[in-house]
Amino acid sequence: MLLELLNVNTFYGASHVLQGINIKVAKGEVVGLLGRNGMGKSTTLKTIMGLVKPHSGSIKFQGREIAGSPPFKIARQGIGYVPEERRIFPELTVLDNLELGIRGGKIKDPGNIGTWTLERIFDHFPKLKERKNLKGRFLSGGEQQMLAIGRSLMGNPSLLLIDEPTEGLAPLLKDEVRDILKAINEAGVTIVLVEHNLRIALSLVTRVYLMGKSHIGYEGSTEELRNNEEIRAMYLEA
Ligand SMILES: Nc1ncnc2c1ncn2[C@@H]1O[C@H](COP(=O)(O)OP(=O)(O)OP(=O)(O)O)[C@@H](O)[C@H]1O
Ligand SMILES: [Mg+2]
Repeated sequence: MLLELLNVNTFYGASHVLQGINIKVAKGEVVGLLGRNGMGKSTTLKTIMGLVKPHSGSIKFQGREIAGSPPFKIARQGIGYVPEERRIFPELTVLDNLELGIRGGKIKDPGNIGTWTLERIFDHFPKLKERKNLKGRFLSGGEQQMLAIGRSLMGNPSLLLIDEPTEGLAPLLKDEVRDILKAINEAGVTIVLVEHNLRIALSLVTRVYLMGKSHIGYEGSTEELRNNEEIRAMYLEA
C-alpha cells in the first residue's frame, strides 16, 4: 500500500471530527473521498498532510509512519496537497509560484523522464505557459486551480491530495481540470480526490470512500457506487 490510515482519530478542541478512519490507497489509484458538507473530508486530507495532528491512529506512507510529523517533512517524503482555497501567491508571477513548489529549492534528477520540470508542467497546462509572466492575481479561477496543481507537481509527489479542484468553475473548465488530473495520474501520480461533483468524480476515480458524519460509511468500486442508488441517496444526494 502507498498510503494506509488505520483507526485515525482527530479532534478540533472537544469536537471529535474524525472517528476511526480507515483508508487504503494503492500505487497508481485515483481514490475518491466523497460526502456531504461538514462530514470531515477536508480534515482527513489535512490530517494526512500533518496540518492537523491526529489524536491517535496510524498513517503510513510507503510503509513509514507519518502520523504526528510536521507538514514539511510529510511533503518531503512525496505527498503533495492542493487545498480547497488554492493558496497561490497573488503578487508573484506564475513562474515564481511554480518555482516555489520545488522541494528543497532544487529539482532532483532533472534528466529523469519521470521528473516534473517546468517544461513538463507547461505541456500539461498550456494556459499557464501563455501566462507565465503574469501575476497570480490576474489569473481566472480555473487558471489559479491549474497553477495550484502545477505548483504541487513541482515537488514531484508520488501522492497528490486534492480538495475540490472543480469547485466554482464553469462546466467546461471542470472537464478540463478533470482531464488534466487524469493525465497526471496516467503519468504515474497516485491521487486522493475530494470532489462534490459526482459526475466528475465517477469519471476519474477507481474506488470511493463515502463519509458520513466523522466516519467512513461506505467503501466500494466506482461501478458499485454507480449502480447503488440507495447508498448514493444515503451519503451524497440531497
Ligand atoms: N478549524 C476548525 N476548527 C473547528 N472545527 C472545524 C475546523 N475545521 C472544520 N471544522 C468542523 O469539522 C467538521 C468537518 O469539517 P471538514 O471541513 O473536514 O468537512 P468537509 O467534509 O470537508 O466539508 P465541506 O464539504 O463543506 O468542505 C465540520 O463540522 C466543521 O465545522
Ligand atoms: Mg471540505
